[in-house]
Amino acid sequence: MKVLGIESSCDETGVAVYDTDAGLLAHRVHSQIDLHAAYGGVVPELASRDHIRRLPLLVRETLSDAALRTTQLDAVAYTAGPGLAGALLVGASFAEALAFALGLPALPIHHLEGHLLSPLLSAEPPAFPFVALLVSGGHTQLMRVSGVGAYALLGETVDDAAGEAFDKTAKLLGLDYPGGPALAALADAGNAKRFGLPRPMLHSGDLNFSFSGLKTAVLTVTRSPGFASDAKADLAASFQAAVVDVLVTKSVAALKQTGLRQLVVAGGVGANRNLRRSLDAAVRRRGGRVFYPEPELCTDNGAMIAFAGAMRLSAGAQGQRSGRVEVRPRWPLGEVTPP
Ligand code: KG4
Ligand code: ZN
Repeated sequence: MKVLGIESSCDETGVAVYDTDAGLLAHRVHSQIDLHAAYGGVVPELASRDHIRRLPLLVRETLSDAALRTTQLDAVAYTAGPGLAGALLVGASFAEALAFALGLPALPIHHLEGHLLSPLLSAEPPAFPFVALLVSGGHTQLMRVSGVGAYALLGETVDDAAGEAFDKTAKLLGLDYPGGPALAALADAGNAKRFGLPRPMLHSGDLNFSFSGLKTAVLTVTRSPGFASDAKADLAASFQAAVVDVLVTKSVAALKQTGLRQLVVAGGVGANRNLRRSLDAAVRRRGGRVFYPEPELCTDNGAMIAFAGAMRLSAGAQGQRSGRVEVRPRWPLGEVTPP
């Protein structure tokens, strides 16, 4: 079965075709980073308009890459939430209309389910059950994943997401949007031991996170007398080490608590090389293994949505044929059910 996947929840327009027999046939992403850079963050209205502008051509190009006609598709999957309402509506309207016109089922997909399942697209995929660490710009969660749609929340951030902390701290240090990768690059040249930043909730006894205080601690350091701008790399490295420390400690605790050995990491922050190195070492020490999506599938993309749709379809999901467009800008992952 061939499933077209459409992602438009934030600032990336992603389109892909996944074939349950042949795997990923094609995927394309258009990033709006340049569009939003001047504003230091995503402008929702501009995001929606750009999705409208890009989506039709991107779908045509992706189908052409896959050497497919629309009539050869079996279903259309799209991100129905969570995300920016206007941006979601663009993908949802397009997908529902296309599916309705072709007489195909439409599959509304939870964005984080896409991220969660994306490591299954790699050459050596994990097997269910596993613990998933979801670290993106909007979410930081640990989950026990026992199958498609079977997600039990183990812990989550009580304030900022890890990616958000990276972005906000990068801004404090005068780095350009999106700050995460820029801060990570600056940290490479820094001494992580120079500033002793807090490890929020490290010993809270649960699997929850808190990152907003860390950003404030960074702000306090930059305002302290004698702080020189040449210490920025050290501060970036110290910040990154604090975030990585907390993420690694809680991930290992989640493996212990569930008795599982496989950890899956998904979401944009999963691209962070320091995090990967520390997680690999800590989990290997416990005789476990960490699985990541292919680097290009760490950030938002249509492949993970096409794949999640295909998994659901294979498991018997019927999809919807009403053409009705409904999005859920706020949609707890715990409310997702198996097909
Ligand atoms: O999953 P994603 O593409 O978008 C959603 O939030 O859904 O994640 C984007 C987030 C941003 O906060 C970005 O700064 C962060 O991931 N990020 C990184 C790195 N690459 C992306 N954070 C730290 N280190 C990186 N190398
Ligand atoms: Zn995402």
